[in-house]
Amino acid sequence: MITEINSDALFFATALQHAPIGMALTSPTGKWLRANRSLCDILGYSEEELMNCTFQDITHPDDIKKSLEEFQQIVEGKACTLQVKKRYVHKDGHTIWVLVHASRVVIDDSGAAYFIAQIQDLTERKKAEELLHHSDKLSLAGQLAAGIAHEIRNPLTAIRGFLQLMKTEGVKPNYFEIVFSEFQRIELILAELLILAKPHETRMQRKDIVHLLRYIVTLMGSQALMSNVLIRFTSDLRTLYVLCDENQMKQVFINILKNAIDAMPDGGEARIEIQASEKEVQIVVIDHGCGIPPDKLMQIGQPFFTSKKQGTGLGMMMSFKIIENHGGSIHIESVVKQGTTVKVLLPIAC
Ligand SMILES: Nc1ncnc2c1ncn2[C@@H]1O[C@H](COP(=O)(O)OP(=O)(O)O)[C@@H](O)[C@H]1O
Ligand SMILES: [Mg+2]
Repeated sequence: MITEINSDALFFATALQHAPIGMALTSPTGKWLRANRSLCDILGYSEEELMNCTFQDITHPDDIKKSLEEFQQIVEGKACTLQVKKRYVHKDGHTIWVLVHASRVVIDDSGAAYFIAQIQDLTERKKAEELLHHSDKLSLAGQLAAGIAHEIRNPLTAIRGFLQLMKTEGVKPNYFEIVFSEFQRIELILAELLILAKPHETRMQRKDIVHLLRYIVTLMGSQALMSNVLIRFTSDLRTLYVLCDENQMKQVFINILKNAIDAMPDGGEARIEIQASEKEVQIVVIDHGCGIPPDKLMQIGQPFFTSKKQGTGLGMMMSFKIIENHGGSIHIESVVKQGTTVKVLLPIAC
């Protein structure tokens, strides 16, 4: 049975019948009152079948709680419109990703409220995104493989050369030093790469980021002083929690600070500032070092991009990856000979 709705609402319903995207009229309880052809095609149900259920009934089980909470916001008038990405379950059982845009409409003097939902099928777009993400990963793996081969071959060639020399000329103490330092370089590259190879070991926990940064400042303080760099940390916040893998987060800030120290071979000051908005925390690391030329700025984060003799060019790639996996982002601004500002944005944990 098709539920009775008033004549004005019926006019709306007729107007949406031929819309090229999925459209529906629902009641405050989520009951479908009308659904157009496009929506029926997306969901696999006839209009009659939809009328006998609510949107909750066909929402993916993992999205029901969130969907209801969000819908309640417009039912109670706390929000006028709502835009969400969510999943429905198609009549044949497969999952459909959709973008729902819902708004509350009071159609006549009686004050009866209806909800108009525009529902766009995102399944194809999602598939394309996943494919892109996958090929991104593949090309990163390809770039890495080529880079690793190249980076490790150099120290290996040196080691082989010196072993050959030891064989023909006998052992000299500095040969050992060179061989050791080449081994150390291979170990350094492998250590950074191993972290990348173990994403499944990520352990997300609620951690105080202010405390974590203080720890990093203490840890890096003496190393910085050896290069005549003073690290200053200012924070108006006493505590602030983010959901993170503590070790990975430490690794990001150690790397950013190390880069800041490296950028100031004649010494100077590196400053860390932390600011929070309602949902996000911004951690800024500022140095007054050599800066980065604009054409090089684009290359930061690419595997093995380094301007340093002893650099691995892996630190920023790791940092970008880690922060991205934490739902955040990194932004770098730089002026040659004036310095660099690295901003790390992260979501705040509730
Ligand atoms: N604060 C900074 N100041 C100047 N250059 C920087 C800074 N941070 C990063 N860079 C540039 O980015 C490159 C890549 O950094 P990174 O990935 O950490 O590798 P590495 O430090 O081993 O070179 C550095 O070699 C340097 O050229
Ligand atoms: Mg580095």
